[in-house]
Amino acid sequence: MGSKIVSFGHYQPARVLTNDDLAQMVDTNDEWIQSRVGIKERRVAGAEESVEDMAVQAGGKALAASGLSAGDIDLVIVATCTPDQVMPATAATVQDALGVAGGAVDVNAVCSGFVYGLAVGAGMVATGLQRVLLIGADTMSRIVDWDDRGTAILFADGAGAVGLDAVDGPGDLLAYDLDNDGTGRHLLTADIGGTIEMDGREVFRRAVRTTTDSALRTLAKAGVTVDDLALLVPHQANVRIIDAVTQRLGLDPSRAVVTVDHHGNTSAASVPLALGEAADAGRLATGDLVLLIGFGAGMSVASALVRWHEPAIAPGGPGEAGA
Ligand code: ACO
Repeated sequence: MGSKIVSFGHYQPARVLTNDDLAQMVDTNDEWIQSRVGIKERRVAGAEESVEDMAVQAGGKALAASGLSAGDIDLVIVATCTPDQVMPATAATVQDALGVAGGAVDVNAVCSGFVYGLAVGAGMVATGLQRVLLIGADTMSRIVDWDDRGTAILFADGAGAVGLDAVDGPGDLLAYDLDNDGTGRHLLTADIGGTIEMDGREVFRRAVRTTTDSALRTLAKAGVTVDDLALLVPHQANVRIIDAVTQRLGLDPSRAVVTVDHHGNTSAASVPLALGEAADAGRLATGDLVLLIGFGAGMSVASALVRWHEPAIAPGGPGEAGA
């Protein structure tokens, strides 16, 4: 069996944090952030808003848009690196809130988590499950050191979800690549109860290289080339990383989705938020090939080639049905 993406849901908190807001908090400015990173503003969770709340919002929208009932779901997967507690899994709370049946498990591959989760979910469908609800959700604002200008400007909060259903034949996921270089795990860290520490330059350098390499491996596995791609949906961390990867791949820049300017780096939510926004904007047509790529702490990287078809897309943007 293959799996098909049957629906989308996305959620962003209502609170907007601009570069000017950040300039009130640390020694930075709008011009530096826009030119070095490409972010203009980002969303951050309210004081009472948890990662579970956001995951429930996005997952609930994807469930509603799928036309399935909660009892039809066999497994909830939540990709997150910012759970509200060590145990139980965030997926357990989401399952309870949505009244969903079946199993519930979290996946942590940091910013690669959603693409890892897609491979896990599709693998579960290939081995017998029928329907999977996959959510990427992170509250990076809870682990940011708001006094560190090197990281405070980068991160944001959000959640994105897809429903997967089993289909006869190969399904939507044509090929994927999962990789991790554990020797670089010290480059981007947050201890339990602590805040993010990062070697930004080295993360940047590795992100460009590993993202490009993973993309090429996935395309090769599927027997297609960059020219066959309709859209690239990369992890939204820094527009200069996206530009460098696009250039290395030889892809027309207009085919790369860029949402980092208003999303910031939402970690596991980044790829589904960008994919949902591209779909909402009508940038995808049935039959298109879409390459999703995540990279993050670990240093993890994951890419997945999806054959697009028109799913039912949940309405709703920032803040809707939120707090
Ligand atoms: N505002 C103003 N100046 C700043 C800021 C800031 N926010 N941050 C750094 N600077 C200064 C530095 O102090 C330095 O000044 P100096 O030359 O006087 O020493 C200068 O700007 C250049 O600093 P660099 O660190 O070299 O700046 P760089 O161009 O590398 O940009 C950045 C830093 C944006 C962090 C970049 O390295 C980057 O994007 N790295 C990748 C980070 C990333 O993607 N992380 C997420 C990975 S995904 C995950 O798993 C969560």
